[in-house]
Amino acid sequence: MKENSMLKRNSYCGVLRKNNIGDEVILNGWVAKERNLGSLIFVDLRDRTGIVQVVFDDTVDVDLFQQASKLRSEYVIGVRGKVRLRSNINETIPTGEIEVLVDELQIINTSEVPPIYIKDDDNVSETMRLKYRALDLRKPKMQKNLEIRSKLYHLTRNFFYENGFIEVETPMLTKPTPEGARDYLVPSRVNPKKFYALPQSPQLMKQLLMVSGLDRYIQITKCFRDEDLRANRQPEFTQIDLEMSFVDEDDVMELNENYLKYLFKEMIGLDINTPIKRMTYQEAMNRYGSDKPDLRFGLELKDISEVVKNCGFKVFESATTNNKSVRGIRVPNGGEFYSRKKIDKLEEFAKTYGAKGLAWMKVKEDTIQSPIGKFLSDDSQKNIIQLLHGEPGDLLLFVADDHSIVYQTLGALRIQIAKDMDLINPKDFKFLWVTDFPQFEYNEEEDRLVAKHHPFTSPKKEDEDKLLSNPESVRARAYDIVINGDEIGGGSIRIHNMDLQKKMFQALGFSEEEAQEKFGFLLEAFKYGAPPHGGLAYGLDRLVMLFTGSENIRDVIAFPKTQSATCLITGAPTELSKEQLEEVHIQVMEE
Ligand code: AMO
Ligand code: AMP
Repeated sequence: MKENSMLKRNSYCGVLRKNNIGDEVILNGWVAKERNLGSLIFVDLRDRTGIVQVVFDDTVDVDLFQQASKLRSEYVIGVRGKVRLRSNINETIPTGEIEVLVDELQIINTSEVPPIYIKDDDNVSETMRLKYRALDLRKPKMQKNLEIRSKLYHLTRNFFYENGFIEVETPMLTKPTPEGARDYLVPSRVNPKKFYALPQSPQLMKQLLMVSGLDRYIQITKCFRDEDLRANRQPEFTQIDLEMSFVDEDDVMELNENYLKYLFKEMIGLDINTPIKRMTYQEAMNRYGSDKPDLRFGLELKDISEVVKNCGFKVFESATTNNKSVRGIRVPNGGEFYSRKKIDKLEEFAKTYGAKGLAWMKVKEDTIQSPIGKFLSDDSQKNIIQLLHGEPGDLLLFVADDHSIVYQTLGALRIQIAKDMDLINPKDFKFLWVTDFPQFEYNEEEDRLVAKHHPFTSPKKEDEDKLLSNPESVRARAYDIVINGDEIGGGSIRIHNMDLQKKMFQALGFSEEEAQEKFGFLLEAFKYGAPPHGGLAYGLDRLVMLFTGSENIRDVIAFPKTQSATCLITGAPTELSKEQLEEVHIQVMEE
């Protein structure tokens, strides 16, 4: 061997086992931990596959031992040695039965003391983790997450390729796409005063590909949305986007059930029962107060408006009129679990969703305990308890308000209660299609109806003639796939008829000129034989969250943005120099 040449591994660290005993191995990696016991130095050597203990023995080679005493955390080294049985078996790691007695060491690179611990349970602030992301990604958990994500790409491409889908890339520099969020804009240097938008999704492009006759399209692609961020939202995120021609809802759902079946089996060995349960939007709202219900626990909502019409409690009585309701949930055995103080907390929580209060009732053997008890006749009490199937020991909770506030509040409360009372089995996976969404929803900011999904979603055939006369009642041929209370994907059957598409724009309040200016290219394409088509897009990051058990979307993205959409590594977004701004014809407003 050449002098000074690098010791190049012939094995990874984390794969060594008892059957390797006696093997001469060369390993490369990082020093995860070093312990000097005077005559023995133990080093935990880490690479992507895991950790193995390597040993330097003073009695075997004094010089080597001297050299090893210089090792510090995160040094990059190469070692040559022999695998032997370990005397102190460590059952917590897969390589715990063996160790490597080193006879040659090479310090390939040194390291300063790292600003964060390279340990899964480091308790370091997320700001530090995002700032020193290269080090953060050295952690076993983060590497595992990226590995799982990579496997998901692979399986996804494999499935769709096997099923005749063609992967097509669509542009990143495009025109605003109407998915409802704000666009990220990019100025054009060669076209002064003009801007591109980064795509919120490839929606229109994939529809054009159907007009082209591509028949089955798939893409794993970045999407950009300038919206308020939450635990499962990023400004740039990844979709598995697909579209199919000559299909109806059942075809799209069936294909996607096959995909999910394959994916969950390969990823975590889970057998999904298909067909996946379906529920209309209205039923989901009525029973769970949400269009993405978590079915891993009960705590269903019940409408008690009918029985409280003349109950004696004014708050309830006045909420039995138009667009309002009184609904409740029964918390089995919640009576003891929720003290007065804890109920006050629930009420505070309810108020953050717009509720004016949270009425409650503890059911006892022959009586009730409730701040509204004094307002309710005996009969009303009995009726309410009966309707909710209340049993002694239960806690009943009620909200009276506009439907939307009642749904939102009780929908959020049932999740909070399930968490409080530990009702969710984290190993459980519950799948649901939510169907028959309303075509439109009211947007307060803009004071007008907007598309609930997007303007290219087909209305249900039987509702088509109500598009202009009674738009609120129109249902869409849209479907969401919900897993454990998360919207993992959504899609629809699209409009493929130019006249219907024009009518849809009209229902959304676009003038003909506006429609032409914004979506003329789609209408134009529809003139020349658009096939019936439909599709769906998954939030890939959210799927990875499910497979890795992550609560935070940033833990499954290599280089995510912070809650305020900044990148702590590069400092993006940054100010631009005067020259850079001039080049793109932009003048920045002074604060
Ligand atoms: P939609 O807007 O429902 O549909 O998006 C599809 C899926 O993408 C995920 N998602 C997000 N994930 C992380 N961060 C975000 N900011 C974010 N926004 C959305 C969700 C969601 O279900 N073009 C249509 C699809 C279609 O009709 O085929 C679309 O984009 O999991
Ligand atoms: P009050 O008479 O305002 O003291 O309210 C009596 C009880 O009714 C309190 O526990 C309130 O939290 C509850 N309450 C008040 N308004 C509502 C409402 N809109 N929905 C449900 N409970 C309410």
